Parts: sequence; structure tokens; C-alpha cells
Amino acid sequence: MSTIIAGTPVTAGLGALFATHGMTKKTVVLFDEHTRKLYGDELLRTLTNEGFQYKELVVPAREASKSFSAAYRLYGTMIEADVDRSWNLLAVGGGVVGDLGGFIAASYYRGIPVIQLPTTLLAMTDSSIGGKVAINHPLGKNLIGFFHLPELVLIDPSYLKTLPEREIYSGMAEVVKYGFIADEDFLSFLDLHFKAITELQEPWLTEAVKKSAFIKDDVVTKDFREENGLRATLNFGHTFAHGLEKLAEYRHLRHGEAVTIGMVCALFLSHNLGYLDTVSLERGLSILKKFRFPKGLLKRRFLDIDSNILLENMFSDKKKLDKKLRFVLLKTLGEAFLLEENVDDKQALKAIDESKTFFSGKRLH
Ligand SMILES: NC(=O)c1ccc[n+]([C@@H]2O[C@H](COP(=O)([O-])OP(=O)(O)OC[C@H]3O[C@@H](n4cnc5c(N)ncnc54)[C@H](O)[C@@H]3O)[C@@H](O)[C@H]2O)c1
Ligand SMILES: [Zn+2]
Repeated sequence: MSTIIAGTPVTAGLGALFATHGMTKKTVVLFDEHTRKLYGDELLRTLTNEGFQYKELVVPAREASKSFSAAYRLYGTMIEADVDRSWNLLAVGGGVVGDLGGFIAASYYRGIPVIQLPTTLLAMTDSSIGGKVAINHPLGKNLIGFFHLPELVLIDPSYLKTLPEREIYSGMAEVVKYGFIADEDFLSFLDLHFKAITELQEPWLTEAVKKSAFIKDDVVTKDFREENGLRATLNFGHTFAHGLEKLAEYRHLRHGEAVTIGMVCALFLSHNLGYLDTVSLERGLSILKKFRFPKGLLKRRFLDIDSNILLENMFSDKKKLDKKLRFVLLKTLGEAFLLEENVDDKQALKAIDESKTFFSGKRLH
């Protein structure tokens, strides 16, 4: 749905690429503090060499930057710099910068083009693709936003060299998710090359990143506004994950860590409800066993949590009675569906408890 370009360096010939896509060489470049420090000088030099006029913006590297106050401040800087409709915005960073940049681009002067230059594994394979852009509200995450497709997604896996291992595993959760929901061969590939990919070895890293990006783009193309249940399958493991993230106040657990735990729960649930056979369950679990967590994290953020409290927090609001949980389950490895029927609380609790046993069986660091 968007043009996705992968390569190293992906910024080579940027001016011509922008022209092909009907964009000017007038660009607002949004970084967070980390991406500015790591890649800013080099990128801005490239823009200068390519004849760009640019305005640079930097936000703190934290989730709190996805806020209305941050956006408001940046609008002001852009207005003062005479940025108008003829400009575009290049977002250089992880999902925080991508979501904030997309939000600003969607709203500034009623919308200017956004180009995503993702620098985390999660952003390269998930958040930069699909056009969902949002900021957070004190009452909930990602509640205020738009569908604003990027004009271009520029993926360069070499940026991952500076990414901390914890962030690599967090992104890897979404990568493995694509195998589970859409492509059994890809899942086998990830199983076989898990170590090489998490150690950023080529050609496996680029292969995994590209394939994930294309699966996401394909799903989004077929169900842009989440109307026929397909885009919802991207939320495999996420119903459980959201409860865990909420309990961790969106701070103590990375999204992908919550999704890894959530996928274990969802595998058990798929099996217990009679959809996924035992061999596939075991195979799925053996892949998820490869994920690493910081010392003590699983215990604090999952094993020690009362399963009933986790279940309560999986509901998106407090009025649990008139709400039902939506689960994405697997029929087989490589095929997911959104379950329409209500799932009995007992079944969800059983899946959580089995997952706790699964994780306590492994080394707890
Ligand atoms: N729009 C969507 O469809 C979508 C999908 C999934 C997640 N998200 C959003 O994405 C956000 C999470 O994104 P994220 O996991 O990329 O987190 P992030 O943007 O906070 O980045 C994680 C950390 O890595 C740093 N970093 C980025 N690139 C780096 C590099 N190359 N080297 C070293 N450090 C680097 C960042 O500065 C930050 O400290 C959340 O806000 C989530 O809601 C959006
Ligand atoms: Zn996710």
C-alpha cells in the first residue's frame, strides 16, 4: 500500500526518489534525542548534498513524546520556520517518532506527506507500515490519531547495529508473530535462524525484516480500516499483552516482551479451544522459548501477577460486564482468525496459568 524500499544505505539518491513520488525537497526531519545523536549528522549531510532544504526537530526519546503538548510545540516551530503545504516530514526513529511524526504530518496544514525512516526492529517491521498514527491521551494509549499512510517507508537494517538487545527481542516478537499468523514457511525460517537474526547477521536479518514488512503491508492493503477481521489478526497475542502492559504502566515492560508472553497464552488458548493441534502447540512454544528477558522481569511482570487481575486488565475499560474480549487464535501455524464468540473467563485464566507454568519451567535468570 505504501512504497517500501529496503537497502543500505537507503538514503542514497533520496532527492530523485522524492521527485518520483511527487514530493519536494523541502523536508521537516523529526528525530528523538538518540537517533539525532547517532544518525543525525550523517543524514542531514546527505540531505544537504542532495539539495534539500530542511528544518530539524528533536523530541525526548520516550513514550511521553507522543503527546498533544509535544505536537503543539512542534507545530509552533514549523509555523515559525514557514513550513507550508509544499513541505513533507521525514520521521527518523522508532515507533514513538514514527507515530508522532505521522500524527503531525496528518494534521499540519490539513495534511502533508510523511516519509518513515524506521530505526528500531519494531518500527521497521510494524509501526512504520500501515498508516496508523497516534498520540496518547492521559486516559489511554494511542487514542487520538489518524489513518495517514506514509508516502515512502525506507528500511535500512544497518541502523539496528546500535540498538540495545532488549529492543531487538522486542521487535523480534512482532517478526515471529507474522510467521504465526500468515506464513508457516517464514516461521520455520525464523526458527532455524533465530540466533543469527537476533545477532543481526546477514543475509538473515534483512530477509526477516523485509518479509515482515511485506506481510504487514499485504494485510493492511486487504483490510485498511480493520473491517473484515484480517487486520485484526495482527493483534495475535495482543489481548493478553495489553493487560500486561497496562499493569506495567506502559513503562516496565517493552511492548514486544508483553506480546511474547501474550503469544504463549494465545497458543494455549487456541489449543484448549480445539483449534490448534498438540504438535503445532509444542512447535510454537519451542520457538517462543528462545526469547530472552531482562533478569527478574518475567517474575515481576507476569509470574507474580494474580491471573484474575491480569484478566481484568485485559478489558479496555472498567465496564467489563457489557464488553467482551476479542481474541485472535491460530487454526494452524501460519493461519490466524479473529474469534467472534465470547471466551469463557475460565478458559482465558487456564491459558494464563499454563503460560506461567511454561515460563517457570525455563531458566528464570
Ligand atoms: N502505528 C502503529 O501501527 C504501531 C504499531 C506498533 C507500535 N506502535 C508504537 O510504537 C511505539 C514503540 O516503538 P519502539 O519500540 O520503536 O520504541 P521507541 O521509539 O521508544 O524506541 C525505543 C528506543 O530505542 C531508541 N532507538 C531508536 N533507534 C535506535 C537505534 N538505531 N539505535 C539505538 N537506539 C535507537 C529510541 O531512542 C528509544 O530509546 C509505541 O508508542 C507504540 O504505541 C505503533
Ligand atoms: Zn504489537
